[in-house]
Amino acid sequence: MGNVALQCAVLHGAGRFAQHLLDAWLRHAPHLTLGYWCDEVLDVHGVCHLLQTHDRLDFAAAQPAVEDGSIALTRLDGQRHHLPFFHGPATQLPWRGKADVWLECSGRYPTAEQCRAFLHGKTQRVLVSATCWDADQTLVMGYNAADWRSDAQVLSYGSCTVNAFVPLAHWVHRRYGVEEAEVQVIHNQPAHRMEAHPRRQACTLERMGPQLLPWLDAGRFAVNYTLIPYTGASLLELRFRLQSPPSLPDFLQNLELACASGPLRGLYALCAQDPGITAVLGTGHNAVLHPAGVRLQGDTLRLSGYFDNENSAVRYWELAQWMAACQSAGVT
Ligand SMILES: NC(=O)c1ccc[n+]([C@@H]2O[C@H](COP(=O)([O-])OP(=O)(O)OC[C@H]3O[C@@H](n4cnc5c(N)ncnc54)[C@H](OP(=O)(O)O)[C@@H]3O)[C@@H](O)[C@H]2O)c1
Repeated sequence: MGNVALQCAVLHGAGRFAQHLLDAWLRHAPHLTLGYWCDEVLDVHGVCHLLQTHDRLDFAAAQPAVEDGSIALTRLDGQRHHLPFFHGPATQLPWRGKADVWLECSGRYPTAEQCRAFLHGKTQRVLVSATCWDADQTLVMGYNAADWRSDAQVLSYGSCTVNAFVPLAHWVHRRYGVEEAEVQVIHNQPAHRMEAHPRRQACTLERMGPQLLPWLDAGRFAVNYTLIPYTGASLLELRFRLQSPPSLPDFLQNLELACASGPLRGLYALCAQDPGITAVLGTGHNAVLHPAGVRLQGDTLRLSGYFDNENSAVRYWELAQWMAACQSAGVT
């Protein structure tokens, strides 16, 4: 995209997703940077304490501190940044309308209708960190980000499970033809809201999958989603019935190539051995697979993997960067 002006974003939310997004920002922000931060629940000291004591992400090098009502952080490039922080209703943000983009990561404004309240002044775009049924566009990196339209005001990046499934399912369909698909997700829970027992829940992927993938028949697609009282990475089991099943060695070779240098590069990893669930934390892949978790029985392909659901913030951040670059370059 060449040299383009750096755009500025407000980050709304300070939960697990926003914390991972902050981590991504500390590492890389070529087209869009964070300028402001706000949360309706946690105040500036609460957020700073969360960063200083994080059990998953290491913010030590960033030296988080509260300075004059801002969160001060040192980015990987060595520069110290001050993010002015507001604790209160998002619609009363003192800097409302000053950023180019509103990053809606709080989970408290799930509809585009609600998010349109943030379109004000300079702020012409909201990107929601969850499935948003009335969004102008849902864009998934590695699948349809190139469809971005400059007139889309409220956009969604999908969700962690949408990102885990869609680019891989699209690749499988293009190569082998998918007749039906099924997804099992075993999902973690936040430490501060741990429940006593596992709980089954509806997953937005079941409806969003067929919306995003025109070849996927809603009547031949099912998602089972279970929340378990545990804070680590999540588990993913995929089953596809294929029109043209390959041999297992051919499939593994093609998957390895796609992950190493093809359309799944950077999105999925195929490890030589089962890495174990803990090793995938922080990897930034939509899902991590391994050969022992790949089975072909007749026309049925099964894939077992892991995914760091919170770190789908990496894809969200890439999408935010992509849109900023497109806009600055005058793409319509
Ligand atoms: N987490 C994921 O894996 C993930 C992945 C993709 C998309 N998303 C989406 O991103 C949005 C935000 O989700 P989230 O997972 O970031 O929510 P979350 O971790 O549950 O955080 C949201 C809220 O939780 C509270 N909170 C967070 N950490 C806390 C702590 N240590 N102590 C006390 N309170 C704390 C705060 O308010 P409360 O008092 O309300 O708890 C905070 O504003 C949602 O729309 C979600 O669907 C999440």
